[in-house]
Formats: sequence, C-alpha cells, structure tokens
Amino acid sequence: MGVSSNGFLVMIMVMVATLALCSICVNGGNFDQDFEVTFGDGRLKRFGRGQLLTLSLDKVSGSGFRSKRQYLFGRIDMQLKLVAGNSAGTVTAYYLSSEGATHDEIDFEFLGNVSGQPYTLHTNVFTQGKGGREQQFHLWFDPTLKFHTYSVAWTPKMIIFLVDNMPIRVFKNHEAKGVPFPKNQAMRIYSSLWNADQWATQGGRVKTDWSKAPFTAYYRNFNANPNHAAATAAFTDGKWQNQELNAWNRRRLRWVQKYFMIYNYCTDFQRFPGGVPVECKMF
Ligand SMILES: *[C@@H]1O[C@H](CO)[C@@H](O)[C@H](O)[C@H]1NC(C)=O
Repeated sequence: MGVSSNGFLVMIMVMVATLALCSICVNGGNFDQDFEVTFGDGRLKRFGRGQLLTLSLDKVSGSGFRSKRQYLFGRIDMQLKLVAGNSAGTVTAYYLSSEGATHDEIDFEFLGNVSGQPYTLHTNVFTQGKGGREQQFHLWFDPTLKFHTYSVAWTPKMIIFLVDNMPIRVFKNHEAKGVPFPKNQAMRIYSSLWNADQWATQGGRVKTDWSKAPFTAYYRNFNANPNHAAATAAFTDGKWQNQELNAWNRRRLRWVQKYFMIYNYCTDFQRFPGGVPVECKMF
C-alpha cells in the first residue's frame, strides 16, 4: 500500500515535470523543430534538444537558418553570443523579413571588429521594399563574452528594438503621414553569419583574417510570442494601441540614443539635402 502510493506520487511528479518541460518546448521555441538551414549546411550545428545552435563562417562559406513559421506581429527574442576575438569583416545578421520585391524587413546586423574594438549594431526597417532607415549603435557591454537578448516587439502601431529589454530604437506607425508601416505581410525570422569585408568593418578598410577561421556565433533561448497585445505592453502604458513608450522607457531610450548611437539617418543632412524622411520629423 505504502509502496504503491509512493509509486503513484512519483508517477504524478514525473508527469508534472514532463508537462512543465513540454510547455517550455512549445512556447520556448526549439532550433530543431522551428528552424531550417538556408545555406552553409554542416556549418550550422545544433546541440542539446534544439536549445543551442551555432553558425560558422570559413573561407568557403558562411551559414544561415530561418524559421519555418511566419509571424505577423508579436515579440521575438533571441539570445546571441557573437564571434569573439578578431571578428573584423564578419557580419552576424538577425532579422525578420517577408518575401518579394515589396517586402518588409526589421533588421539587426552585428558588424565585427578587430580585437578590442567595439562591434557595431546596425538596425534598419524596410517597408514595401524600401529601406534606408539605418541607425547604428555601439553596445554598453562586450557581446562576445556572454549571451545577450536581442528582441523585436512588433504591433500594428510600433516596432521596438530591444537589447536585454532596453529599448534602443522605436519605429512608429506614421501611415497617416504617408509612411508605409509593416502590417500586412507576415515575416520569417532569419539569421546568418557571412563575410562582408568589402564594407563591414571601419568602412571596409579592415579585412577578414582568415587565419582565425572558422568564426562562430552562438544562439540559444529563441522565443516567439505571436500575441501582439502583449508584445509592447510592458513598455507603454499597458495597451498595445498606445504608440508612446511610458516615461521610464522613454528615458532609457534617450540614454541609449545619447551615449551609444553612432549613426542616425534622421540626422544625416548631407545624405538628404532635400530634407530628412518624413518619419524623422515626427515623435
Ligand atoms: C570598429 O572600431 C572602430 C574604432 O573604435 C569604430 O569606429 C567602429 O565603429 C567599430 N565598428 C566597426 C564595424 O567598424
């Protein structure tokens, strides 16, 4: 009697543990189930039960993957640990994109650098096939030492780019002023590691040092929450319809933009002699 009720208890505990684990695999994302290789087969490796993935780049090829699912709004989180040491010439891209000539795209690109010099985080937003909305940042930490979380929170009203939950960039819906906003085309999540030494590092002056190859970037804890009502709620006054960050997050965004932004298309007056794009004049 005692033994069998103990056995029963153990069985219940195992069932609960299994259920808990499974809910993690469903919500938490899994590199085995949710992603497919786009190029560089064999240079992409998965570890554990799909919890960790690595991409590598050598002289012959880089590598990449994409999500099988498409997303229209939601919050996407990915933890990345970037190529360490001399990563000059390498680019690790992590972005959302739809397909076709008038595609929409939300970009994070990490441009490598020589040892000891900072990575550049390059961001862009394409709407209806048109980009040219670059903002670049240095980071307040070394992104090669540990995993950090890079996220996109996307609703019909706004896109927030986040680094470790810190808002670094907001692109609002200004359709009323004639600026297209990504809201009709579902996007896949893409990532790739490739050689871009013609332009990536210090304007293309520093080339990839192939004696350091293969270069490796690490991915873990992918999470996609397609519920757009929840995607930006923590950063606004709690409703997704609100286009305004709350005061705390406005302050955090200003801090990043003041101390870490190194390029902003909105203040590049030489590039836009006829005036910067419309969305730059709106807040
Ligand atoms: C590399 O380091 C230089 C010097 O600190 C810096 O100006 C540049 O923004 C860094 N990033 C890239 C991608 O060149």
